[in-house]
Amino acid sequence: MMKKRMLIIEERTSNGELNGEDLSRHFSKKDWNVDIVSGLTEVKNLLIDKDFCPDVILADLDVCADEMFKSNAELQKLTNYPEWIFTYDPDGDIDISQIDGLAYDILAKPIDRHRIEVVASRAQRLASINRRLRHSSASKKQRYQIESYLGQSDAAKNVREMLTALTETAISAVTVIGETGTGKGLVARIIHHCGLRSDGPLVEINCAALPKELLESQLFGHESGAFTGAKERHRGLFEQAHNGTLFLDEIGDMDIELQSKLLKALEDKKARRLGGEREISFDVQVVAATGVDLEKAMHEGRFREDLYHRLNVFCIDLPSLADRKEDLVELVPSIINEYNQKANKKVTVVTDEVWEKLFNYSWTGNIRELRNVIERSVLLSKDETLPSKWLQLNGSSDVVVESGGVPRRLGSAITIPLDGSMKLDEMDGLIIQAALEDNEYNVSQTAEMLGSTRETLRYRIQKYDLRDKG
Ligand SMILES: Nc1ncnc2c1ncn2[C@@H]1O[C@H](COP(=O)(O)OP(=O)(O)OP(=O)(O)O)[C@@H](O)[C@H]1O
Ligand SMILES: [Mg+2]
Repeated sequence: MMKKRMLIIEERTSNGELNGEDLSRHFSKKDWNVDIVSGLTEVKNLLIDKDFCPDVILADLDVCADEMFKSNAELQKLTNYPEWIFTYDPDGDIDISQIDGLAYDILAKPIDRHRIEVVASRAQRLASINRRLRHSSASKKQRYQIESYLGQSDAAKNVREMLTALTETAISAVTVIGETGTGKGLVARIIHHCGLRSDGPLVEINCAALPKELLESQLFGHESGAFTGAKERHRGLFEQAHNGTLFLDEIGDMDIELQSKLLKALEDKKARRLGGEREISFDVQVVAATGVDLEKAMHEGRFREDLYHRLNVFCIDLPSLADRKEDLVELVPSIINEYNQKANKKVTVVTDEVWEKLFNYSWTGNIRELRNVIERSVLLSKDETLPSKWLQLNGSSDVVVESGGVPRRLGSAITIPLDGSMKLDEMDGLIIQAALEDNEYNVSQTAEMLGSTRETLRYRIQKYDLRDKG
């Protein structure tokens, strides 16, 4: 078995306490390879001369605090991202909060052998997991270039321009909005992997997927015993994202109380773990994504205005595919190629008939839906032609009729409940209202879209009182 590697940064003088040499002997007897140095400059020499790459660095803050604060990002890279455990003299005057974001743990001296052994083993495990992740992030960097956001339409070019500007600057928060499947997740990854923080971690959480309490303890962490079920200490995602990016997906669905805590953490750049006593500081860039109309949510009191402004330092509004259908020309071949490779197929021909279907379809699920449609067709292809019959695009059926529930808007489609809760007239009104909104209340356009006449439409607008209320 490969030995675990530890580096100890310690004063070489001993005053009766457990000092570096003692610890070194202790760990060497277990399954650790230990090196010991007396300062950060020596660390650098050691790394270069001996090609020593520690999993865990045990550092005495009384020796290296000042240097540490100055050069921790550089050191992290140089040491290939180990986990740090700091020891300090509780009667001394070092401000340990400064080191929090970097520390796996901070132990007051004198240190207990058993305790440090447990902590070091856990830290070692975490370091090796993180290294594996980091290793795969090199290939992610290639996958998430600004050019990975495809499209030659003005809207797509505009997105890439914004991404370029954004990744060259240090911006604390970005909001990415757009309908489902428009690439919010993709853009968040591009922002991280092409940005100034690409060497740091990208930590991601879906705010809609967890109940409020769990989300809170994920974000801010908890100490063991903070609540029933909290057996082990958990480092919050903010801490984990230190020097990197925290991607808060579906932020629009976050509970309003939790929003206040989030805002406070963002403003203070520090937070307390649940059940914890110390505030832990962190330096993260936040990318928040949502398909929810935040301004509307704000006016309805479901989203905090102050948080909205805090996150909206920079906002990327992703165009829907329906608004940039010309990009199909680039997207379709690219997706076909991808699935050709994955499934060992050789599709190279897209007939006019298929193009026409693709262009006429309404793509309410945007690029995700497009990808699914192409995937299915490529997988079921028999020769070099993309088979039309597997597209299964039912015209551009915009009204999806569904039983149960309430009427819903889904991109350019709406769903209407058939459970008796709506009368035919109300449905009629709803459809016209939706069509009017899509055409910015231009009556002629709306009439044309609905295959009706201006006169009929005017009559119904009056009947249902459908004037522009926005
Ligand atoms: N402009 C684009 N060029 C190439 N691929 C894209 C583009 N936009 C989106 N995609 C791809 O489409 C798929 C869906 O995108 P993504 O998951 O980022 O959407 P989303 O906005 O996060 O959707 P949801 O709101 O449903 O989570 C992904 O595979 C993504 O890589
Ligand atoms: Mg997403």
